[in-house]
Amino acid sequence: MFTHIKSVHKAHRTVSIVSARYSSAVAILGIETSCDDTGCAVVNGNGRILGESLYSQNNVHIRYGGVNPLIAYELHRNNIELSVNEAIELSNFKISDLDAIAVTTKPGMLINLQVGVKYAKYLARKFHKPLIPIHHMEAHALIARMYQTITCPFVVLLISGGHCLLALVKDIDNFFLLGEGLDNAPGEIMDKVARRLKLKNIAEFSLMPGGKAIETAARKASNPEQFKFPLPLTKYRDCNFSFSGLKDSVFRTLLRKETDHGIVGDAIIPEVYDLCAAFQLAIAEHIVHRTERALIFCEERNLVSRRDKTIIVSGGVACNDIIFQAIQLIGKKKGYNVYRPPSRLCTDNGVMVAWNGVEKFRKKFDISLDIDLSSVTPVAPLGKSLINEVKAAQIPVRVTRLKKYNF
Ligand code: KG4
Ligand code: ZN
Repeated sequence: MFTHIKSVHKAHRTVSIVSARYSSAVAILGIETSCDDTGCAVVNGNGRILGESLYSQNNVHIRYGGVNPLIAYELHRNNIELSVNEAIELSNFKISDLDAIAVTTKPGMLINLQVGVKYAKYLARKFHKPLIPIHHMEAHALIARMYQTITCPFVVLLISGGHCLLALVKDIDNFFLLGEGLDNAPGEIMDKVARRLKLKNIAEFSLMPGGKAIETAARKASNPEQFKFPLPLTKYRDCNFSFSGLKDSVFRTLLRKETDHGIVGDAIIPEVYDLCAAFQLAIAEHIVHRTERALIFCEERNLVSRRDKTIIVSGGVACNDIIFQAIQLIGKKKGYNVYRPPSRLCTDNGVMVAWNGVEKFRKKFDISLDIDLSSVTPVAPLGKSLINEVKAAQIPVRVTRLKKYNF
C-alpha cells in the first residue's frame, strides 16, 4: 500500500517539478522549527512575502535562561499546524497552489527539527508537493538577497545563539567555511551574561532576548572604560572565534563587583550598564578582528570580485547595531559593502526558509520527492572547509580598537 502511494506521488511530483514556474507565480511554503521559533511563510519568486506566521517561544524560555528542548518540542507540536495554516491563509493561496514546501532539516535541535520535517512530509504527501531540504545557516546567509541585489560570491558572517561562522558564498549551494566558533556562540554568552546580571529583574529588559537586553542596557552606559576584557585568540592567525574565556572573565568581574557592593538576592550591581557596554564592545572587537582577516584572505586569493565586494551579516546577533556598525567600519576600510537583513529576519523565521526554497527551486537544485528522516541532523558543517588554508596563510591583522572610533 505504502509503496503504491509513494509511486503515485512520485509521478505526480515529478510532473510539477518539470513544469516549474520561474516568476512571481512561484510560491514556496517555508517551515522552520530548528530551535525555539515555529516560523512559517509563503514567499513568491520575486521575494514577496505573501503570508507569514511566527510563534516565538522566547517568553517561555527566558525563565530557564536558555532554550529548554523538551518544552520547545511540545510548543512546536502545538503550534506547527496553526502556524502553517496562518501563513497559508494570509497568502490567499491554497496548499494545492504551492510549488514546493521548503523545510529546515539541519542543523538544530533534533527533536525540534523533526517536528517541522514530519509535518512538511505529511503536507507533501497529502497535496502531492515536492520538498526542499534547507540548511538553517544557509537560509540565514541568503535571506538578505531577498531585499538587495547581492551577487555571488560574497562573504557572510553568521552570528547567532548557536553559531559563529565566517564563510564565502560562491553560489547559493556552494559555501566555503573560513572560520567557526570553537566554543560558545556570541548570542549564547550574551544570553548567559544577561541572566547572570539579572537583567530580567529590570522591567524594561524583562521580556527581551539576552543579546537585545545587553544592547539596550549598554546604551545607558557612562563609563564603560572601567572594565577591560582580553581579546580572544590574538595569537592565532586564523578566522576562528572563541567566546568562552570572555564569558568567564565577565563572570569573574561581576562576582568581584557583587562582593565589593555586598550584593545579595535579586539586587543588581550599580555598574551594570557599563559592564554591558564593555562586554558588548569586547564581542564586537573579537568579531571584527577575525572578519578582517577573512576579508583579506578572500581578496588575496581572488575569491571575491575586485569591483563588487560584499559582506552580509545575519543571525540573531546581527540585530545588534554596535556589532553591525563595527563590521561596517571594517568593511569600509577594506572596500566591502556591508548588508544585513531587516531585524525580524536576522533572527529565526520561516521567511528565510521559504526564500532559500525559492532560490533552490529556480536553480532546480535539491528538490526532493521525499526527505529521509535520517538526513535530519543536529550538526551540519557549512560547506567545504577552507579553515586550514586560512591558517596556512598566516595573515597578520592588527586589532582595531573600537573605542578609538567612539563606539
Ligand atoms: O538566529 P537566532 O534567532 O537563533 C539561533 O539560531 O541561535 O539568534 C538568537 C540569538 C539569541 O542569543 C539572542 O540573544 C540574540 O540572537 N539576539 C541579539 C539581539 N537580538 C537577539 N544579540 C545581540 N543583540 C541583539 N539586539
Ligand atoms: Zn538561527
